[in-house]
Amino acid sequence: MPVKGVFAGGRASSAPLVGQASEPTIFELSVPGRSAYSGRNTEVPEWPIDAIEAHLRPEAVELPEVSERDLVAHFTRLASRNYSVDLGAYPLGSCTMKYNPRFADQVAAMDGISGVHPGTPENGIQGWLEIFSVLESYICAITGMAAATLQPPAGAAGELTGLLLMRAYHRSKGRNPQKVLIPDSAHGTNPASVTLAGYNAVTVPSGPDGLVSVDGLRQLVDEDVAGIMLTNPNTLGLFETEIVEILELVHSVDGLAYYDGANLNAIVGIVRPGDMGFDIVHSNLHKTFATPHGGGGPGAGPVAVAEKLARFLPGSLARVAADGSLGWFVPEESIGRVHGFYGNAVVLARALSFMQYLGGDGLKRMSELAVLNANWLKSRIEDSYFIPYGQVCMHEFVASAANIKKQWGVRALDIAKSLMEEGFHAPTVYFPLVVEEALMIEPTETESPQTLAALAESLIHLAELAEGNPEVLAAAPARTPVRRLDEARAARKPILTEDQRTG
Ligand SMILES: Cc1ncc(COP(=O)(O)O)c(C=O)c1O
Repeated sequence: MPVKGVFAGGRASSAPLVGQASEPTIFELSVPGRSAYSGRNTEVPEWPIDAIEAHLRPEAVELPEVSERDLVAHFTRLASRNYSVDLGAYPLGSCTMKYNPRFADQVAAMDGISGVHPGTPENGIQGWLEIFSVLESYICAITGMAAATLQPPAGAAGELTGLLLMRAYHRSKGRNPQKVLIPDSAHGTNPASVTLAGYNAVTVPSGPDGLVSVDGLRQLVDEDVAGIMLTNPNTLGLFETEIVEILELVHSVDGLAYYDGANLNAIVGIVRPGDMGFDIVHSNLHKTFATPHGGGGPGAGPVAVAEKLARFLPGSLARVAADGSLGWFVPEESIGRVHGFYGNAVVLARALSFMQYLGGDGLKRMSELAVLNANWLKSRIEDSYFIPYGQVCMHEFVASAANIKKQWGVRALDIAKSLMEEGFHAPTVYFPLVVEEALMIEPTETESPQTLAALAESLIHLAELAEGNPEVLAAAPARTPVRRLDEARAARKPILTEDQRTG
């Protein structure tokens, strides 16, 4: 079905929103069958020099000077104190902290990728437009959806975008339902996004198996339901088994089904949210496709939608114009833009390079190995740790230190801090909230069998140590550059200046 809209013309940043452009052009919602990235156009946009000069400072800024030698020594010292994905296993559940291959860095550093000014007009960024359009087609192929926006800069930003699309859909039908259903195991960003979008979050209980309780859901579904947000695999690392029934219930009141695809790493090439019947799906490219997740970004949370929602997508989208060139296009009923320029463009280029490098079979293998590694590690440690939901897991699983705490007073936090002494990054702790003393472990597909075996040995060793020497775990870490921090205080009252630190 063709989606009506307008070609914005010129720069993405100045793209007119719906109704502002004079000559709408109808285009077919299809992916351009183009070849490889065509590179950077050398045409440089003209900038109004007077305007720039008016904003220049009259005198130079006084900056402290430091020699290159001292600067290199400073950063090398800092880097050697850090634990990173390049150093070893980083089993931080829910975050997919996998190794990011070097070729993605090389792609990101290419002049045509990193050297382009975001304000460059369309005719100067044909290669970039091709990257966006091909990546959109890949995301649609992976998720089973019809069209996608690449603008949202994170998973949470994708959630907000998806909820605004949900509202646009209901408004187009003259409806204004107020409730969005969210399972109790969901990531905290789900209810936060729902509130930010002006909806009311309603909690759906999980059953004893850790999956959405269909009976519980049935009690909550009424005409005021705008939709459901479902994470799959859920944050316990479990694949929701009652999807058909859940979606039938929500669709029966014309609610929309939103798929939180942050855990896409488990399912690429195996199942697709679109085939399951979902209407909206965000994916965290920064977890699954070659960009580290953490440190606050940058990330990318594209939102893909079913055909019936394509006309509401944020502008601008890269599409083929009548003359065969690629241009910026704004769908007729667009909700407006959700990010400046093209989103976090370099993250998008990294993701595309990763998808093209691995290909369809390679991406499927990636997910299969992620699931295999998690199940292997789970079965290796299950005699030492209580696993509250013991069924076959997907790419991650949740262990509990509740028994160890009860017997020896050793908490999940003590295990996590002690694991750092063993040479590994800590797993996620105390999340999801439905598990007491949770240790959420996601080994990812990039660790070797030897590394996984060593990680398992360390976890087992710590459980044994808890029995005879709980005080050692309580005092850990002892050999890291900094000992145990008061993380809550550091977050609430950060010391941001040297003066404060020494004063
Ligand atoms: C299940 C789930 N949903 C949403 C998010 C939010 O993604 P982001 O941190 O990119 O905003 C995460 C983050 O890891 C997640 O695990």
